Amino acid sequence: MTADAQAAFASYKDEALVAIAAASSEDALETVRVEFLGKKRGRLRDLQALLGKAEADERPMLGKAFNEVRVEVQTAFEARQAALARPQVAAAAVDVTLPGPRPVIGRRHPITRTMDDFKDIVGRMGFSVATGPELEDDHHNFVALNIPPVHPARDPLDNFYLATASVGSGDQAVLMRSQTSTVQIRVMEQTAPPVRIVSLGRCYRPDTIDATHHCMFHQMEGLAVDTDITMADLKTVLKHFATAFLGDDVSVRFRPSFFPFTEPSVEVDVLWRDRWLELGGAGMVDPNVLRQVGYDPDEVTGFAFGLGIERFSMMRYQVTDIRRFFENDYRFLSQF
Ligand code: DAH
Repeated sequence: MTADAQAAFASYKDEALVAIAAASSEDALETVRVEFLGKKRGRLRDLQALLGKAEADERPMLGKAFNEVRVEVQTAFEARQAALARPQVAAAAVDVTLPGPRPVIGRRHPITRTMDDFKDIVGRMGFSVATGPELEDDHHNFVALNIPPVHPARDPLDNFYLATASVGSGDQAVLMRSQTSTVQIRVMEQTAPPVRIVSLGRCYRPDTIDATHHCMFHQMEGLAVDTDITMADLKTVLKHFATAFLGDDVSVRFRPSFFPFTEPSVEVDVLWRDRWLELGGAGMVDPNVLRQVGYDPDEVTGFAFGLGIERFSMMRYQVTDIRRFFENDYRFLSQF
């Protein structure tokens, strides 16, 4: 009797474990459970009946064996149940075809996007990107740019003067740079010709803030110096630049103007969709500027240009108020 019962336990266990392992779905596993572990009609009940028929002195030993088998099968069943449930949960978590909420991620500021586009365009024409400090000295913001001591551009009402500091050999006014032309000087001081650079960044002027003016704005400065640079090169570069940025073939026109650091100087306009748009200021680098940085104006010539970046961003993104760019309003910024 004991041997029969033990053989029955063993074959129950073997068959149950095989059936559990073979169950490939939760439904199939449920069928296996009913057969092997079911309380009402399952095979476990048959084994229990064997226990009832055993001699009293065999019962403790058989009871222990029965329990071991029962626990082992129950454990195998639970493990299989968990394994069958798991892949479905995992698949739901990574199903890339399911529509879901878009994750909120940051994006580039419209001014940054415009600057990146500018860099791309002029980069293709061989201009590399140079940088300079926003806190400048009198020499780089004015003197080296041929802006004389009494020039109105130095007016304290038009500049953010901060302090006087000893710079180089003497005391100098220190200010937030009012133009990126300062970087022309810094590059030429450091580099022998030829140079071909752009510099993009912030400038500061205490303008009254309104829809088209801000006390902080961005410019792109361009500079090319070489042995045979002419105004035709300047016009060609600006035409290619405007064509690439605006996406249409455009005409460029020069209007006579004056800047202390260029001679001759021009205002640049672009004919786009039947309207003349102001692009910025430009000209041939003044020989005085070349001499200041140790270049020989008899050996090299150069052109320079300076463009306001906000105007282009406003045009491209149809922004009608410059202040929107700098208010950090998430509702505005998340549109780009
Ligand atoms: N720095 C000028 C401004 O802020 C813009 C400018 C004009 C830059 C002519 C240039 C240039 O390099 O050649 O108004």
